[in-house]
Amino acid sequence: MSGYVHGYSGREAERLADQAAILEALIHDGLSFPPGTHVLEAGCGTGRQTAALLARHPGIRITALDIDAGQLAAARAACPGPRVTWIHGDLRTAPLADAGFDHGFVCFVLEHLADPAAALGVLRRAVRPGGRVTVVEGDHGSFRTVPETAAGRAAWDALVAAQRRLGGNPDIGRRLHGLLTAAGFSDVRVEPRTVFADAGAPALRDGFTRRIIVPMVAGAVDGAAHAQGLADLAAASSGPDGVTTYTFYRAVGRVPE
Ligand SMILES: C[S@@+](CC[C@H](N)C(=O)[O-])C[C@H]1O[C@@H](n2cnc3c(N)ncnc32)[C@H](O)[C@@H]1O
Repeated sequence: MSGYVHGYSGREAERLADQAAILEALIHDGLSFPPGTHVLEAGCGTGRQTAALLARHPGIRITALDIDAGQLAAARAACPGPRVTWIHGDLRTAPLADAGFDHGFVCFVLEHLADPAAALGVLRRAVRPGGRVTVVEGDHGSFRTVPETAAGRAAWDALVAAQRRLGGNPDIGRRLHGLLTAAGFSDVRVEPRTVFADAGAPALRDGFTRRIIVPMVAGAVDGAAHAQGLADLAAASSGPDGVTTYTFYRAVGRVPE
């Protein structure tokens, strides 16, 4: 990773916790891991997806890995107990046993990497034949608001540009089928997971807009230069016509036997 657009501040840790809670059903519903499954979670961050996996799938074990020691320490504190083994390291170089895992799980990580294909290649080797990977990634090109102002758009575009400058691909979600197939996974299925939040879902609209989108942009762009844009983005969370919508993607692929 040539850089990490969201950084590792306390505010970003809070955003990751809010994001995991607000999007939990969209990220995790429909996944099923039988007891005894050994999951490799790459880029576990502060452990919020780790906690959801542990709670939703009794009897699984997780090996969770992150390149940042501070994130890993926070994750360890959030998920005490013997079911998780923690690895501080880079997914691309960590000592992972070939075919040592039943499932690979990645959430909002590939979009930050300059070489997502290499990371998928590592997962492909680490998961046993017949095992699967689940990859959840965003698509910043899908983000829209009502009202939508030039200043709000400029703030969002500045986030996208910052992530691209650091080598990431903020639109990677829409490319997951091709990437997983090229990495050697079979039976690849990709599902859009859409957040659509209008006045009919005020809690989702407020949480998604003010607790995920606005802090995500604020943490990555020049706050003074984009003060109006940040205020305009937040305004989409109120009033009878305010809308925020964003689509991310969840892909599942299988390691051929
Ligand atoms: C946006 S956070 C997502 C965290 C978590 N998956 C979640 O959804 O809450 C991305 C995480 O990937 C980690 N990361 C980025 N590149 C990595 C790499 N090459 N190897 C391991 N972890 C990496 C970062 O340190 C960060 O904690």
